[in-house]
Amino acid sequence: MALSSAPGKVYLFGEHAVVYGEPAVPCAIERRARVDVERRTDGKLRVHAEDLTLDGFTVEYGTATERPDVDVSQSLIRAAMGYVDGAIEQVRDVTGEADVGFDVTIESDIPLGAGLGSSAAVVVAAIDAATRELGYELEPDELAERAFRTEYEVQEGQASRADTFCSATGGAVRVEGENCRAIEAPDLPIVIGFDGGAGDTGKLVAGVRALREEYEFAADTVETIGNVVRNGEDALAAGDLEEVGRLMNFNHGLLSALGVSSRSLDAMVWAARDADAYGAKLTGAGGGGCIVALDPTEATETALKFTPGCEETFRAELAEEGVKRLE
Ligand code: MEV
Repeated sequence: MALSSAPGKVYLFGEHAVVYGEPAVPCAIERRARVDVERRTDGKLRVHAEDLTLDGFTVEYGTATERPDVDVSQSLIRAAMGYVDGAIEQVRDVTGEADVGFDVTIESDIPLGAGLGSSAAVVVAAIDAATRELGYELEPDELAERAFRTEYEVQEGQASRADTFCSATGGAVRVEGENCRAIEAPDLPIVIGFDGGAGDTGKLVAGVRALREEYEFAADTVETIGNVVRNGEDALAAGDLEEVGRLMNFNHGLLSALGVSSRSLDAMVWAARDADAYGAKLTGAGGGGCIVALDPTEATETALKFTPGCEETFRAELAEEGVKRLE
C-alpha cells in the first residue's frame, strides 16, 4: 500500500491567459487530496472516491471504456474515472507494467471543479502513490509532467501546466508555456469564498477561445492579463500586498470581460472589496466555485459569511510542500 497527498491551489494571477502562453502565478494551499493505492493481481482498477460535499461511491471496472451505473454527480465520476484512469495510464507507461491493476481510494478536502485545483491534486497524488506502490520514485518535475499529460488528455488539449506543477512542487510558482519555476512570495493572508458550485473548465476555456478568435479586443484582453501577471510578480517580489491586491482586482475585471465570472463570484469579490481586502478575484476556470481575497483582518471572512451565494469561507495557508509521501 502507498499513500500520497497533494495540495490544491489558488491562482493569484493569470488563469485562462496561461492557456495561450501568457505567464500565470498559482500558489499551493493547505487543502489536500489523499490517494491510497494498493496493487491488484487481476489487472482491474477499483476506485473509491469521497469528498467533503458528496457521499462517497465506488467504481469497479476492467477497462477504461466501461461506464459504471452509479447515481452520483457526473463531475465526481469524471474526476474518479477520467483523471484516475489517465493517471494510471501514466503509471503503466513509466513503469512498463502495462497490465497492472490497483485499488485506489481518494479522499479530498478540495471542492471539485471550484477553482482550487482538485483534479490536479488527485492526479499528482495518484501517480505518486501508484508508482511508489510498484517500487519507483518520480522526481517532482517528472511527476508534474506526467500529471500535466493526464490533465491535457482529459481536458482535450485545453490545459496548462500551472495546476499540476503547483500541486507537485508546492509554494508559489510561475508558469509560462513549458517553463515552470518556484518564485518567492511574502506571507499571504489568503481568504477563500466558495459558492458551493462548480464551473465546467472545458466549456469555459472553449468560450474564451471562441471570443479570442472572434474579437481582436478579446485577444488583447488575454495579452493584458499577461501584463497584469508580470506586474503582479514584481509586486510579490517586493512584498507589496496592496499592489498585489490592486492587480488581483484588475485581473478579475479582465476575466469578467472574458465571460468567465458569475453573479455569485462577483458578489463575493465585491463583498471582499467592500470589507477593504487588499484585493479579490475569482480563481481557476470560473463560472462558479471560489474567489481568493487577501486580507490580514477578519473583515473579509465576516463579510463573506453574510454574502448571499457564499456557502463557505475559510483562510488558507500557503502549502510549502507539494506532494507528500505519507506511507
Ligand atoms: C483552470 O484551473 C485554469 C485554466 O487556466 C485552465 C488551465 O490552465 O489548464 C482555466
